[in-house]
Amino acid sequence: MTPSSAILWSTLEPRLGRAIDLAASRVARLVTTQPGSFPIYTVNGRWRHSGESWTDWCGGFLAGMAWILANRTGEPAWRSRAEELSLKLAPRRHDRAVHDLGFIFLNSYRPWHRATGEAALLDVLIEAGRTLALRYNPKGRYLRSFLAPDSLFIDIMMNVPIIFLAARATGDQALHDLAVAHCRTTERVLVRGDGGTAHEGIFDLETGQFLRQSTQQGVAADSTWTRGLAWSLYGFGQVHEFTADPADQAVAWRNADCFLERSGASPIPPWDFDAPAGSRLDDSSAAAIAASGLLSLAEAARPSDAVRADRYETHAIRILDALLQDRYMAWNEPEWDGVLKHGVYHFHKRLGVDESVMWGDFFLLEAVEKALELVPGRARF
Ligand code: GLY
Repeated sequence: MTPSSAILWSTLEPRLGRAIDLAASRVARLVTTQPGSFPIYTVNGRWRHSGESWTDWCGGFLAGMAWILANRTGEPAWRSRAEELSLKLAPRRHDRAVHDLGFIFLNSYRPWHRATGEAALLDVLIEAGRTLALRYNPKGRYLRSFLAPDSLFIDIMMNVPIIFLAARATGDQALHDLAVAHCRTTERVLVRGDGGTAHEGIFDLETGQFLRQSTQQGVAADSTWTRGLAWSLYGFGQVHEFTADPADQAVAWRNADCFLERSGASPIPPWDFDAPAGSRLDDSSAAAIAASGLLSLAEAARPSDAVRADRYETHAIRILDALLQDRYMAWNEPEWDGVLKHGVYHFHKRLGVDESVMWGDFFLLEAVEKALELVPGRARF
């Protein structure tokens, strides 16, 4: 038993099940009513709208939910949906316009490859990893964001694991080293002394020198955009699974400690930890990402640092306990297309503000799956 079991598992466990049921019904409705569509955010709760996407990065989350549901239920219908959605994403492995190939392929082709071991599926992952690596700027030693050659985003930490995966599968040391270099540059220029993160770094393209921190989606260059911090804690944790380098785990832990510290008594964080007080706007998606990332960090910290593991697990369960309430879950609103309400995509562009966002639904489902493994006395799958 861990301290997290002090939370009322008897009330939480049914809500974990209810969240899975809600996700299954919403995903089934979406793929039936809008086949071939990979929405990013809702408008007034609806996935279908004419709003811009800014960048096309969320296909893997819809496919990923179908894979989670396929693995959970064992139902052939979910397996078919998961495969169909993944197949639709296959051409994206050559997409050089985005930095999001990890988001897209690690949540679609990776579970598919895990399920079958088919070499052709691994080839897709390898190709996607190699394509992402083409974004590498050797002078600045970073993978450039989709926005501009001189721009590095914290979000890329969630995508760089696909390069590690490709390097490991092919034994390509140069590919591995490039990914390591990106992580070290991100740590150096975007992760601050308190473990907080800047969203973006800007480089001099002539010299490769780092010039300044910046932001696209946060309040300011020197603020900690909450989702960016969640991407970092989860991303560095995933990277550590490939590198086993204590430096990667140390960054993830600094990020996680900062996330807990800045969250204080509120399990659901504001969209930017430095957003002006008085105009509070939650980002439920950042909470969901952090919950899932913290559960993975907790598992990786055991048994050597059980105190830390308990702390991260307890916070993750607190987040889930807070998210799985009527305020955040659309389970009483059949007209609402998403699962998790009150997410924020791009505050400044007014895209998906206080709406459902596809990654929020995905990481909630992923965290719920992980939490179910922790329910005291529950038979393990
Ligand atoms: N594009 C990644 C994000 O909005 O968090």
